[in-house]
Amino acid sequence: MARRPIIAGNWKMNMTPSEAEGLIKALIPLVADAACDVVICPPFVDLPLAVTLTQGTNIAIGAQNVHWAEKGAFTGEISATMLKSLGVQYAIVGHSERRQYFGETDETVNKRACAALQAGITPIICVGESLAQREAGETENIVSNQTEAALAGIGAEEVKTLVIAYEPIWAIGTGKTATKEQANETIGCIRATIEHMFCRDTAQAVRIQYGGSMNPGNAAALMAMPEIDGGLIGGASLKAEDFAKVVKY
Ligand code: 13P
Repeated sequence: MARRPIIAGNWKMNMTPSEAEGLIKALIPLVADAACDVVICPPFVDLPLAVTLTQGTNIAIGAQNVHWAEKGAFTGEISATMLKSLGVQYAIVGHSERRQYFGETDETVNKRACAALQAGITPIICVGESLAQREAGETENIVSNQTEAALAGIGAEEVKTLVIAYEPIWAIGTGKTATKEQANETIGCIRATIEHMFCRDTAQAVRIQYGGSMNPGNAAALMAMPEIDGGLIGGASLKAEDFAKVVKY
């Protein structure tokens, strides 16, 4: 079964609503004939506008985080139900920047992923090793442990619908992309972990993206690898022309 490629832009903490409007309006015609799923993940404040502007287009909207509770005393957080009611379809969960700077753990990543699925939002679950971990030969261990923890308690049928992003921390925002062989091998290891946890069918259905300095220049080579089903794009998603080129790798 062929997996449909999915290219997602993670805008991180960039773009005011007026800037977002300009970027989205520029992007819509450039990706209208894309052969893959196209997702953009703007900051929370841009989401209502992003959903409205992309209605009737082939661009889906994702959030950059989601809380696990439906509502309550969680100052500063946004629930999956809120996102769903807005028309948001995806949520990035467990990005390394959240793990690094905001105390995200494997356990909270799992809780966020479960809450997203329950509300009908597709989580894009991020995993990836640091440079020190790669150099110590721990990459496989790290990503398979992160994958196992993130998917704990989720049923196979739901796992088939979610997206995983393999983002080596050393490749994020550094201009230093993993080689296509490194990315393919580690994504293969994530898929093997899923097969071990569930079954071959489940592992073959899950879409796994690569993220980390992916850009118009390297997208085609990465996307040609058999295990790589898409990209999670940071810097290059902030310019309509660049993101469109990645989308049309
Ligand atoms: P860059 O593409 O800027 O390296 O960011 C990757 C990333 O973290 C996407 O989530």
